[in-house]
Parts: sequence; C-alpha cells; structure tokens
Amino acid sequence: MKITIIGTGYVGLVTGTCFAELGNKVTCVDNNKKKIADLKKLIMPIYEPGLEDLVRRNVKEGRLLFTSSIKQAVKESEIIFICVSTPPKDDGEADLTSVENVARSIALNMSSYCLIVDKSTVPVETGEWVKHTIKVNLKDRGKKNLKFDVASSPEFLREGQAIYDFMHPDRIVIGVETKRAEELLSKLYKPFKVPIVVTDIKSAELIKHASNSFLAMKISFINVVSRLCEKVGADITKVARGVGLDKRIGKSFLDAGIGYGGSCFPKDVDAFIKIAEKHGCDLSILTETRRINSDQVRLFIKKIEDSLWIVKDKVIGVLGLSFKPGTDDLRNAASLKIIERLLSEGACIKTFDPQAMPKAGEIIKSSRLKFSKGVYDVAKGCDCLVIVTEWDEFKAMDLERIKKIMKQPLIIDGRNIFDPEYMKKIGIKYLSIGR
Ligand code: UGA
Repeated sequence: MKITIIGTGYVGLVTGTCFAELGNKVTCVDNNKKKIADLKKLIMPIYEPGLEDLVRRNVKEGRLLFTSSIKQAVKESEIIFICVSTPPKDDGEADLTSVENVARSIALNMSSYCLIVDKSTVPVETGEWVKHTIKVNLKDRGKKNLKFDVASSPEFLREGQAIYDFMHPDRIVIGVETKRAEELLSKLYKPFKVPIVVTDIKSAELIKHASNSFLAMKISFINVVSRLCEKVGADITKVARGVGLDKRIGKSFLDAGIGYGGSCFPKDVDAFIKIAEKHGCDLSILTETRRINSDQVRLFIKKIEDSLWIVKDKVIGVLGLSFKPGTDDLRNAASLKIIERLLSEGACIKTFDPQAMPKAGEIIKSSRLKFSKGVYDVAKGCDCLVIVTEWDEFKAMDLERIKKIMKQPLIIDGRNIFDPEYMKKIGIKYLSIGR
C-alpha cells in the first residue's frame, strides 16, 4: 500500500520504516529540512537499536522515501499517518498545535479520498477536531465534496525496543467511523497475527492514555511498597515476584527503582489528568502516581546524601544517564535531577553512559562534571558509585576490581541490579531500593 507518514520523530520514523519493511511504499515527511537532508544521507536523528540498518535497506530497495514536501506525499497516498509531537504545555495539557497544522496541510493538498490516521499520543476527542479542521479547510478550498475518513491507531512502542515492539505487538488498536477506514487499516495490519481491537475513535484514543497511565501506576505502586519493605526489612524484588506471578497482575512493570522517566509516561499521565479534569472526572489516582514518582527520586538523592554525610567536595560516580537502557534519551531522566542536585551541593561528578553523554553534555555544563571513558574510569577514586540506568555493561562489571579502585567501597543502586548478599560477601557497602 502507499502510505505517508507525517513527522519523522521516534514514532514516525520507526512506524514508516517498519511499514516499508513489510512491503509498503512509504513516504516520510517532516518540515525540519535538516532532518530530512540527514535521513536522505542515512544519518539517524535518534539512537534506536536496529533502525539504521532497516532504514538503509528499505531506502536502497526503493520502499522508503524522505521529503519535506507534504504536497507530493499527500497526493500520492491513500493512508496518511499523523505522527507529530504533542508536547506538554506548562499546565500539563497536550499541545496539539502541530496536529492541527498537519490536518490543515492535508486538507490543502489532498486531491482524492484519504484516510487520515492519528498515531501521535493525543487526548480523547482529538479525532473529532482533526475531522472538523479538514472539513473546514476543504470547504474553504471549494472542495467540500472530497471524501475522507479519520481514524486513530495508537502506538505501543517502547524506546530501545521500538522495532521489536512494532513487529511483535500484543494487540493492534484501530478506532474508526466507517467500514472503508476499517478495511483499509485491516489490510495494512494484515501481516500481524495478533488481536485487532476495532473501536470508535474516542475509545482508541482513550486506550493509549489509559495503557500508559496504568503502567505508570503499576510502577508507582511497587515503588511505594518498596518504601515499606525498607522500613520492615523485607525484599521488594521477592515481593514483586510473588505478586507478579499472579496472572491477573502480571510481572512486568513491577521493578522498583527511581521511578519512571522518558518522554511518554510523565507527559501522558499529566495529559490524562488534564483531559479528565476538563470533563469533570477525578483522576486523583494518577495525581498520586505522579507524586510518588517524583518523591522516589528525592528519596534516592537523600539516600546518597545520608550515606556520604557531607556531599561537598565528595567525588560521586554516576553510572547511566539515559532514562532507561537502549536509548540516548534524557527526557525526564532521573540522572539529570540527581546530578544537578549533587552539583548544587558542591560534589564532583564523574559519569559514564554508553549512549547519552553527548546529549547530557549539552544540557548540564559544570567544571565539576566529568564525562568518563567507562565504568572503571568512573569508579577510580570515587567516594560513592551511584547506579541510575541499568545498562547491561554495568551489570557485568567486575565488582572486586571496582572495590579496589574506589576511595571507599560504597554503591547506591537505583535499579537493583546486584545481589545484596554478594555485595556483603565481597565487602562493598550496598544500598538499593526496597531491600
Ligand atoms: C512507554 C510504553 O511502555 C510504550 O508502550 C509506549 O508506546 C510509549 O511509552 C509511548 O507512549 O510512546 P517508553 O517510554 O519507551 O515506553 O519506556 P518504558 O520501557 O515503558 O519505561 C518507562 C519508564 O518506566 C522508564 O524510566 C523505566 O525505567 C521505568 N520502569 C519501567 C520502571 O521504573 N519499572 C518498571 O518495572 C518498568
């Protein structure tokens, strides 16, 4: 099928590339000319494992094109996906300016039937506004008889595993109003042998916000239980296992730590609260989720402060900067809050992250922050080693060697990657979460 993807951010680029990989002819459009010029040269705007190879192959085989001209792309495609960003406003509400602009551009450029599918994460009722915008602008062009449909098909891709998630979804959600739209999307998603949940547009929009909010809630729940574990001397990893093996609960997203970050959960929880408020519904279960999440970082920083006594002039090694492994994304990353706080208290920070150091260098500038070459370089001479992101190479580090090169053997682990018993045995003071 011929598809246009508008917006080549993380969702658009992965979606477009994967649809091309499945044999469709995909045109990816972005108004950022530099990004398009780079993509044409096969320079990726983000780090996502496997993406570059897939883009390269599909470009070479002629199924994937990049352009900054929306006009041509819209004219040639029957299905157009809106994948632009919906950033938060100051009050947490989603800013849908880009969605509206794209809807208007589609209306100004379409010349035959189109199915316009929203894949950006948007609040419920966005589909109605998109439809209204297109209608108004078609009428303005004197083309009010041109037929179109609007649909919603939210994505459930995790950064760092986006290609795998696209190719192996648990379910596909399509929110439609007409048979024609349903048939087109069913044809496009035919290669996937998973349940397709066909709903009205509003339900599909709600599925996305409700899914992310539920996962965020699960994380906050386990984090709050981890605090009780610390008080009474229980072990949160064992509690989570015992709880999660109940199929009704499920074991994923029950890892206690320093809370959720990234560009999705914090933003989507805020936006969901806002849209519910707008309709007079109380989602305080989510305001609590959000509060627990920010407290979790604060409590972790306190753990570092308490174990060092005086933070000023201490050398603290921070392992991991990205909000989770497998990405260079620093949006809402706990590392930034932790480093900023420790720097403000006069600490010297050495840090290492396999992917996120260039981006971090642009965000935090301090003569007391040093980017290191690897874990051992960070650990050398440190008063304390803090684990913020659970990259595999941190899990594999030689702890005996770390102990020898640190000034004092103290590891504070926000991701529970080591066994406390083993740490005790080799003589490293080890503080983790809920254990
Ligand atoms: C999330 C969802 O998982 C995707 O399904 C969704 O499509 C995406 O948002 C989106 O809306 O675009 P992502 O933000 O990439 O994906 O990251 P996750 O893997 O879900 O992790 C989010 C945060 O939760 C990370 O900071 C992670 O460290 C934290 N987390 C996750 C925990 O603290 N504990 C857990 O058990 C799991």
